[in-house]
Amino acid sequence: MVDISVLLTIGEVSDRTGVATSALRFYETSGLIESRRTSGNQRRYQRSTIRTIAVIKAAQRAGIPLDEIRERLARLPAGRAPNREDWEELSKAWSSSLDTRIAQLIRVKEDLADCIGCGCLSIDNCSLINPGDELSSTLAGTSKLELVTDSGSK
Ligand code: FES
Repeated sequence: MVDISVLLTIGEVSDRTGVATSALRFYETSGLIESRRTSGNQRRYQRSTIRTIAVIKAAQRAGIPLDEIRERLARLPAGRAPNREDWEELSKAWSSSLDTRIAQLIRVKEDLADCIGCGCLSIDNCSLINPGDELSSTLAGTSKLELVTDSGSK
């Protein structure tokens, strides 16, 4: 049983982390952190929540989607903040994820470079709109625009 008097208020957590109380409520609603409630239904947080929030902030800085952060944090033992070993593992995984997204963005930038000065906006031929000519394999020669137009007119 946790002595609720030693827990932190949402304002204290906000002050110590620099995260707005509205964002803390959002984190909680999103399943990233959890709180206990007083008899007056006020939130109280374990001190270890500050460390969890540090991990969330670092992950967000690296552009990691909230779903991925939540999924990774959920693998940790319940009620325990990420320790040094956890952070080592998380940061390695997110570094790898970041490498993947950087490679994707470089490909998008290359595709976008082909569009500069073009203006065709071709559903079939623009590699930004139709990367890897996905439409040719999925729609067997029928353009997606035609399908949308056909279904819209029925
Ligand atoms: S707009 Fe023409 S190739 Fe993308």
